[in-house]
Amino acid sequence: MEVVIVPDAAAGGELIAEAIAALIARKPDALLGVATGSTPLPIYRALAAKVASGAVDASRARICQLDEYVGLPAGHPESYRSVVLREVIEPLGLSEASFMGPDGSAEDVQAACEAYDRALAEAGGVDLQLLGIGTDGHIGFNEPCSSLASRTRIKTLTQQTRVDNARFFDDIEQVPHHVITQGIGTILDSRHPILLATGEGKAEAVAQTVEGPVASIVPASALQLHPHATVVVDEAAASKLK
Ligand code: F6R
Repeated sequence: MEVVIVPDAAAGGELIAEAIAALIARKPDALLGVATGSTPLPIYRALAAKVASGAVDASRARICQLDEYVGLPAGHPESYRSVVLREVIEPLGLSEASFMGPDGSAEDVQAACEAYDRALAEAGGVDLQLLGIGTDGHIGFNEPCSSLASRTRIKTLTQQTRVDNARFFDDIEQVPHHVITQGIGTILDSRHPILLATGEGKAEAVAQTVEGPVASIVPASALQLHPHATVVVDEAAASKLK
């Protein structure tokens, strides 16, 4: 596991946008796995600026979602499909056709999960998977005690994660209880997972991820098992590293 400490979130966003740019230069139709939440926004802004300036041609890039709420109506502004369209697809000038994600409104959620894992494999696998981290160490929405071999499936959010995500909704009651998330095994199938963590609130989870044992109680620690995982942290998130 490679750990890179940067001064702040903007520097982390720029560094990872450069890694994405290098990937796209090498493989124009790369499949980029994107996370939602606040942490990756500096990455998307830095990448969009490179596209707008003509420094990067992302026109053939393909985008896939890491996770999705279950039960939000289609087009809900906080569904992760809507967020990725708003924060990634539109700023990069891509079309919806270049974007795939799990169907959080499927009647048969289990079948939708299996279909998504198949679709990722048929697309050739994820070249670069962006990840944030929860205060409880989750990646995607693999909450503590998720199987390290798990595949895409439905999960119940912990109350802590619902509280953390309530800022995106009018009140906590509107935060769904369930999500579809790529499993930890699915994430480990990606060729290069890159986790970005910023702010002091993530410092404990980062320390356990990087320096603790590989354990399902800290799902992000599974990244230690990947031959080419990168963890980018700002100084505040690195503050509990030894
Ligand atoms: C969202 C996701 C989550 C978030 C995590 C951190 O797609 O996969 O694991 O990355 O909850 O969220 P923020 O970045 O908002 O602190």
